[in-house]
Amino acid sequence: MQHKSHWENVYEAKSPEAVSWYQRHAARSLALIRAVADDPRGPIIDVGGGASVLVDELLDAGYEDVTVLDLAGAALAIARARLGARADRVRWLEADVRTVALPAAHYAVWHDRAVFHFLTDPADRAAYVAQVERSVRAGGYVLVATFAEDGPTHCSGLPVERYSSGSLHRTFGSAFDLVSSAREDHVTPAGAHQSFVYCLCRLGT
Ligand SMILES: C[S@@+](CC[C@H](N)C(=O)[O-])C[C@H]1O[C@@H](n2cnc3c(N)ncnc32)[C@H](O)[C@@H]1O
Repeated sequence: MQHKSHWENVYEAKSPEAVSWYQRHAARSLALIRAVADDPRGPIIDVGGGASVLVDELLDAGYEDVTVLDLAGAALAIARARLGARADRVRWLEADVRTVALPAAHYAVWHDRAVFHFLTDPADRAAYVAQVERSVRAGGYVLVATFAEDGPTHCSGLPVERYSSGSLHRTFGSAFDLVSSAREDHVTPAGAHQSFVYCLCRLGT
């Protein structure tokens, strides 16, 4: 998780459609975001967004203030190239979510699919949660998708933590109210099935 070089190599070695986490559409994330984000100007950040098409779909849906953050510049370059001229409407941050300086009390929606579960060190999880608490506005939403309890133990050759909606919510703590959760059976490009849990929380006001 910590190693930028690992992730740069992944995106340099594989096409974005070949990685196990590839989705043709980020349908569940988009639906959950649309259900709670009714102001198109509300800032949205996709943390560890990689080369995901969520950013394309957020722009298509009319969201005007979208940031994509990722450790791997190679991943952001893929997304930017795909978007062409529309890439200028997005803020791109090549950074580590644990340490990047983000604006305080700013984001209306924080989204993370398949990033938080790589944090196997409690200190890294605490640093991540502190970033969320600092940079999401009061009343803002935090949507985190991880491998579920019956999901894989590894991804991209790295160990992961697996969660239920309850354990994921508890990891974030009492500042967050659980709004909804959902399980998803993700089918990888190679045809494997992976159980995900999506947990939508609201930061207390
Ligand atoms: C499994 S991929 C998921 C990508 C994307 N969220 C999706 O659903 O397609 C994990 C992503 O997290 C990024 N990443 C890993 N550690 C990170 C960190 N500490 N800070 C920011 N991004 C990180 C990787 O570069 C990679 O793009």
